[in-house]
Amino acid sequence: MSGEHEYPVVAEGLRKTFRHTRRSGLPDKLAVDGVSFNVRKGEIFGLLGPNGAGKTTTIKMLSTLLIPDEGSVRILGMDGIKDVKNVRQRINLVSGGERGLYYRLTGRQNLRFFANLYDIAKVGQEALIDKLLDIVGLTEAADIKVEDYSRGMKQRMHIARALVNDPEILYLDEPTIGLDPEIARDVRSLIRKLAGSGKTILLTTHYMFEAEELCDRIMIISKGRSVGYGTVAELKKMVPDTNIIEVVTNDDPHDTVAKLSSEHFIQHVNTERIAGRHCTRIQLKDRTDLLSYLDTVFSKYGIRKIGYDEPTLEDIYISLVGGEGQEDGGHHR
Ligand SMILES: Nc1ncnc2c1ncn2[C@@H]1O[C@H](COP(=O)(O)OP(=O)(O)OP(=O)(O)O)[C@@H](O)[C@H]1O
Ligand SMILES: [Mg+2]
Repeated sequence: MSGEHEYPVVAEGLRKTFRHTRRSGLPDKLAVDGVSFNVRKGEIFGLLGPNGAGKTTTIKMLSTLLIPDEGSVRILGMDGIKDVKNVRQRINLVSGGERGLYYRLTGRQNLRFFANLYDIAKVGQEALIDKLLDIVGLTEAADIKVEDYSRGMKQRMHIARALVNDPEILYLDEPTIGLDPEIARDVRSLIRKLAGSGKTILLTTHYMFEAEELCDRIMIISKGRSVGYGTVAELKKMVPDTNIIEVVTNDDPHDTVAKLSSEHFIQHVNTERIAGRHCTRIQLKDRTDLLSYLDTVFSKYGIRKIGYDEPTLEDIYISLVGGEGQEDGGHHR
């Protein structure tokens, strides 16, 4: 079957429970609880959610690695559960972890190995490998062992590895986890380039600015269920901007912030140090006007600026997942 698929990925009513043996004493875990969405051709779709929300489980069900208990998966018009062989030819997956490459081999040797796995004819292999190395910016490092690559280079090699079969759909599970900001930016621009070349991309990330910067549409999941689905602009409409107050102070308002965080009218409050100043974002639960109250409370820290602010994706995320899991930033595994 050929032809363009407006929605290369269609997930409907996905549900997955991990059942533990009785001997383990662990309770069964409902990891994904009825998730439905679709991904448009050439778009970058983001799956966001706290640790354990079910993102990786969802990606596994969309990439033939895990069979859902319920629901259906259509990949490029094919049955994503039954038509495993054909689906695998046309998708690929990169996981944030470190596995999947042969560290004793060079980048080029790795790509040769994976090209052979996909039965790519020997005659075309070297040209393909050169092209992939060029796409991910590793031409110079082609003949260096992967064990000597930096983390950023390894991550780009993972992506090159996933491009070997020229997949129409690319799943990226936390593609920039653990990378320093500059390298992460390179990986993001690579992702954008791939989407620009027509690939459909579904990624997960814990970095809200990354999702805001990259994703055309987003689904936020919490405890296996969708709590928000749409473009960033659409999601932002779910939280009125009169609910966010930003206060910039000279001194660290730590004591006040700690007190505020337990107030019933506050959804979330956090302080960040930016360029020597202290920037506190306060998300209110409802529209009660607290500007003058907060102005008084913060005055002892030397207020440089106070006012309502437009919500960021991070504000929306916090409001939708109820603050669950935002403290750890998602790195505790
Ligand atoms: N193979 C497994 N066996 C048992 N439980 C599992 C298994 N895989 C995942 N789980 C559980 O299912 C839930 C969802 O896990 P999943 O890995 O999909 O979350 P995630 O959203 O990718 O989280 P993270 O942001 O930490 O990567 C978690 O509670 C997890 O512990
Ligand atoms: Mg995960």
